[in-house]
Amino acid sequence: MSNKLLINKNIVLGVTGSIAAYKSADLVRRLREAGAEVRVVMTKAACEFITPLTLQTLSGQPVAIELLDADQESAMGHIKLARWADWILIAPASADLIARLVHGRTNDLLSALCLASESPLAIAPAMNNKMWENKATQENVEILTARGVQILGPASGGQACGEQGEGRLLEPTNIVQELARLVVPGKLQTKKVVITAGPTYEHLDPVRYIGNKSSGKMGFAVAKAAREAGAEVILISGPVHLTTPAGVQRIDVESAQQMYDAVMESLGSSNIFIACAAVADYRPKQVEDSKIKKSQHDQLQLNLTSTVDILSAVVNQENKPFTVGFAAETERVIDYAQDKLHRKNLDMIAANKVGKGIGFEVDENALHVFWPQGSQKLPLASKTQLARNLMTLIIEQYYAKNSTQNS
Ligand code: C5P
Repeated sequence: MSNKLLINKNIVLGVTGSIAAYKSADLVRRLREAGAEVRVVMTKAACEFITPLTLQTLSGQPVAIELLDADQESAMGHIKLARWADWILIAPASADLIARLVHGRTNDLLSALCLASESPLAIAPAMNNKMWENKATQENVEILTARGVQILGPASGGQACGEQGEGRLLEPTNIVQELARLVVPGKLQTKKVVITAGPTYEHLDPVRYIGNKSSGKMGFAVAKAAREAGAEVILISGPVHLTTPAGVQRIDVESAQQMYDAVMESLGSSNIFIACAAVADYRPKQVEDSKIKKSQHDQLQLNLTSTVDILSAVVNQENKPFTVGFAAETERVIDYAQDKLHRKNLDMIAANKVGKGIGFEVDENALHVFWPQGSQKLPLASKTQLARNLMTLIIEQYYAKNSTQNS
C-alpha cells in the first residue's frame, strides 16, 4: 500500500488574491507529491499575483477562472468540478473570499463552486494581521467554523506588508499535513494526547539555573506524529529552540513545578500521556532573589531538594490516561527501563541510550520499547520517523488495553 498521504484524492485548490498566492505553486506540487489529483480554480485577483500558466503547468490540468466562459465550462464546468472534488481547499483564502462564503455569494467561479458543492471545505486564511483580527473577519470565521468549514492556520510571524502578527498563510507542507489529517482520519481522531518535552530549568537565582542537554526534538516529533494520527495534541515544553508542529497546542514552561502544573491543568479527559521531557530530579531548595555573588571561599554548597515526579502523579490519577514514560540511560538500559515500567506502573516505556553523540541533541535515535506483555526494538531512524513508529506501537497497545478493559 502506498504511504502517500492523499493518494487518489481529488482536490479542488482555490487560489484567491493575496500576496501569499505565490506559495500556491509549491502547494500544488506538494499536494501532487502526496498523491492527490489537483484542479486549480483562481479568482481574477489571484491572477494578478501568480499566472494561471504556472498553476496549470504544475497541476497538469487546465486552470478555471471564469464562471461564464463557454470554453472553460466545456473542459469541466463548475457543477462537474463541484461533484468531482473529494475536498475543496482554498489557500490562500483572502478576507473577501471568507466574507463571500459567509453570504453564499456566487459572483465568481470559486464562490459559486463552493455554494454548489457538497464536498467538505478547508480554508487557509492569509491576510494582514489587522484584517485577520478585525471583528468582521473573526465573526465570519466563527460562522464558517459552525458550518463545518475547516480553518487551517493562519500562522503568525513577519508579513509581506512589514507588520508582525497572525495572518500568514501556513507553509504548504503544513497545509498538506493538516489536510491529510482531515481527509484520511487517523486512528487517534477524537482522542486527546498530552505530551511533555524538552529540559526543565531549575533556577538558583534570576540568571542561573540547573538544566540538561535535552533538545526537545524527540518530544516535538512525538507531538507531530500524534497530530498526524488525528489526535488533539497538547505539548508542554521546557525551554527549547523548536517550532511547534502544525495543529499542536503548545504550552511553554521552565521549571519542573511549572511543567507539573501545566500537565495537571491539561490532563482532563485525555486518553494518552507521553512523558518525553527530561525533567530535573532536583531543584535548589531556595531560589535567591538577586544574583549570587562570588565570595572569598573557593567552594559553594548548593542545597537541593527533589522535584515533583510528574509521571508518577499522572499514573496516580483516578482516571489515568494510557501512560508512556521515557528512560534515557547511560548504561544497563534494558534493566533500568523494565524496572521503571513496573515500579512506576506505566503502560509503556521507551528506553534509549544517551551519552556523547547519542540520544540528546542529535537528529537520529533508536528506542527499545517495553510494555507489560511485550517489547519491540525500533531501529535507528530520524526522530520524525522514529516517533511515527513509536506512535504506531502506542496506538496498538492503547486499543489493546481498552478493548480488554471494555470486554
Ligand atoms: O525515573 P526517571 O526520572 O528516570 O523517569 C523518566 C521518566 O519520568 C521520563 O518519562 C520523564 O519524562 C518522567 N519524569 C517526570 N517527572 C520527573 C522526572 C521524570 O515526568 N520529575
